[in-house]
Amino acid sequence: MNRPDSFQRLRRLGAAALLAALAACGGKAPSGEPAAPAAAAPARLSLIPAPASMQPGAGTFALAADTPLQGEGEAALTVARQFATLLAQGRDLVLEPTAASGETRRGIVFRLDPTRAAAGREAYLLEVTGDGVSVSAGDAAGLFYGAMTLLQLATLDDAGQVALPAVRIEDAPRFGWRGFMLDPARHFWSVDQVKQVIDMMALHKLNTLHWHLTDDQGWRVEIKQYPKLTEVGACRIPSGDGGIEPATGQPRRYCGFYTQDQVRDVVAYAGERHITVVPEVNVPGHATAAIAAYPELGSTDRRLVPSSEWGVFPNLVNAEEETYRFLENVIAELIPLFPGTYFHVGGDEAVKDQWEASARVQQRMREVGATTEMEMQSHLVARLEKFLAGHGKRLIGWDEILEGPLPAEATVMSWRGIEGGLKAARAGHDVVMSPSSDLYLDYLQTSSAHEPPGRPATITLKQVYDFEPVPAELEEANRGHILGLQANLWTEHTRTFERLQHHMFPRLAAVAETGWSPEARKDYADFLQRLPAQLRRWQRWNIGYALTPFQVDAVAEDDRAAGTARATLSNPLGYEIRYTTDGQEPGADSPLYSAPVDLALPAKLRAAAFFEGRPLAPARGFDWDAASLLSRSDEQLAACPESGSLLLRLEDDGPADGERAIFNTDIFYPCWQWNGAQLDGIAAVKVRAGRIPYYFQLAHDEPARRFEPARSAHGELDVFAGGCKGQRVASVPLPAAPGADGFLELDAELPPDLSGRQDLCLRFTGDSRPQMWVLDRVSLQPATSLPEDRP
Ligand code: ACM
Repeated sequence: MNRPDSFQRLRRLGAAALLAALAACGGKAPSGEPAAPAAAAPARLSLIPAPASMQPGAGTFALAADTPLQGEGEAALTVARQFATLLAQGRDLVLEPTAASGETRRGIVFRLDPTRAAAGREAYLLEVTGDGVSVSAGDAAGLFYGAMTLLQLATLDDAGQVALPAVRIEDAPRFGWRGFMLDPARHFWSVDQVKQVIDMMALHKLNTLHWHLTDDQGWRVEIKQYPKLTEVGACRIPSGDGGIEPATGQPRRYCGFYTQDQVRDVVAYAGERHITVVPEVNVPGHATAAIAAYPELGSTDRRLVPSSEWGVFPNLVNAEEETYRFLENVIAELIPLFPGTYFHVGGDEAVKDQWEASARVQQRMREVGATTEMEMQSHLVARLEKFLAGHGKRLIGWDEILEGPLPAEATVMSWRGIEGGLKAARAGHDVVMSPSSDLYLDYLQTSSAHEPPGRPATITLKQVYDFEPVPAELEEANRGHILGLQANLWTEHTRTFERLQHHMFPRLAAVAETGWSPEARKDYADFLQRLPAQLRRWQRWNIGYALTPFQVDAVAEDDRAAGTARATLSNPLGYEIRYTTDGQEPGADSPLYSAPVDLALPAKLRAAAFFEGRPLAPARGFDWDAASLLSRSDEQLAACPESGSLLLRLEDDGPADGERAIFNTDIFYPCWQWNGAQLDGIAAVKVRAGRIPYYFQLAHDEPARRFEPARSAHGELDVFAGGCKGQRVASVPLPAAPGADGFLELDAELPPDLSGRQDLCLRFTGDSRPQMWVLDRVSLQPATSLPEDRP
């Protein structure tokens, strides 16, 4: 279980408090004397994404409230206004944009310049000299990106004076598709939150928002012709306690959808920031919410409800002509709302069991000449492609659409690795790369115990940064089919906007750089040098980035006999670590960590990651004593070697309101291991366990879920020494249910002859579905601490 992150507390305080806290962290040397002030004007420009070409000049141009800010023509004036609004955020500098007057006062001028169109779409030229600033571009998007770069130059400092460094930047994007996918189906994001996402994207020169509007758990967009899609399909009842109204015991619904007016508003807002919104209506699978609303769309006689479970469901829309027309009608209502070229029709994870079992679908397959269920899906895709093309739109779908015949014009979004993208490009399809292995932002980014729920196959910042969208093996002639890349953020396990932003940043900045910067300009070490300045911009812009990559993690191994512990510190991004052992805040002069630190117990260690003398995030404190080192939370335990299929970081289902516990577990084989537990003098283990709903649909993977047989009514907690294949050293029967707080505490006595360091394996037996036990904490109990009357 994790503890509330200091980040979350700071987020509630807001950006100003965070800045103040960070300043406080670095402000004092251990002696109590003020530390040397942090370096004033940073030497590097720290732009993210890195521009294509940049020549530093001599001198600076200082901005002040009376600096003229001009736009030549309406489009340029709009960009000047957008720049002024963003610049004013978090500081006392409000420039007044005006139409260009022809006056040559020193100031900032934005101008559309048709001669610059040759530099390509979205390109710009930004020149800062001692006399002023000029931003020019061949199109409005380019001008906007020039403004975003200028904004970054204008936010290099902490506050107060804005001195723009002289520079000439000629810049253009590497890829035309620089995307982010937001999933409002699993957890819903308000219009205001979607706009905040759009703002964050725009600041990083991302240009495509893929809006995943439908899934098994919810249909999130108003369709006037089919009102039940939102009357029925937009609400689910969450699993477990989260779906029960505490006061009444009645079901508590989780609902949300966007009206068409709201969609227009969001799309217009995005358009002003040069972001195209691509809607997704997912068929034939991930369609439970739609089928719940209109059962005649389904391929099963079972009545469905929008699901409150996660995973891969068997529910497919059927292949009737009426269903095709339903989909065309839905798309026809949405097309006028989305001016962009692409329309996403999903197509992923459509397991065909229901189609195989349905006499009607089998008959339809014969009617249309489909010899396999995948060909039937292709028939549907081809029909929708034709419909979309007839309305001037292009179809895009997940890479499964490649598994059957696919119209040449269809674009493929490669998510199961890059193989689908490679195959599609070779077959002449356009491709967007969004592999789950590298660009899924619901995967955790560090191994910190403070990560919010998600999928803990960790995708680090470096991994995201290193992803190359154009496979080396792709022939030159087909490379132009790679439109770009997209990060996807599925939100099954992301319930709050704070956590959404935590998953997004800093990793979305890496996606932005890959999408924008020339391949030759990419350099991870250099990116890490530019990132600290970006953190300060994020604080100013109220972007709730993850602090976990910028904090310090610690592991302590105790030597119980000697009363000491050896602490190993790490920062996920490899920034330098400074620490104290006297309870003081670490500062720039505190000892630099270079090797494990030996500490006499009890010990207090405080540590922070630093860059150029400033802490990157609030310090973390670690208090260790003999008792605390005998206890480990689930995050501090390993998954058993026998597990490993689908490790998740899951949130408890209750309480309905307020903070919930978070557990690391493998849903195919929940099992936890304390590697090298020191068992000398240990008489028992105390285990605290929680219980969460088993809310997963695993489709064809379900038989892979392993349950150890129960030997008593409700199963037992088994403890093994020497790993899970070693000796079973304890077994305690489980009750039918946890206590009123949702937890259970068990004491398991160990045999007296256990000694030395051993891998302690803990797991629960029995098939407890629709619930599952999850380990929260395990504590070793020394013989001396047991009650006197223990035999
Ligand atoms: C996907 O992640 N199912 C596209």
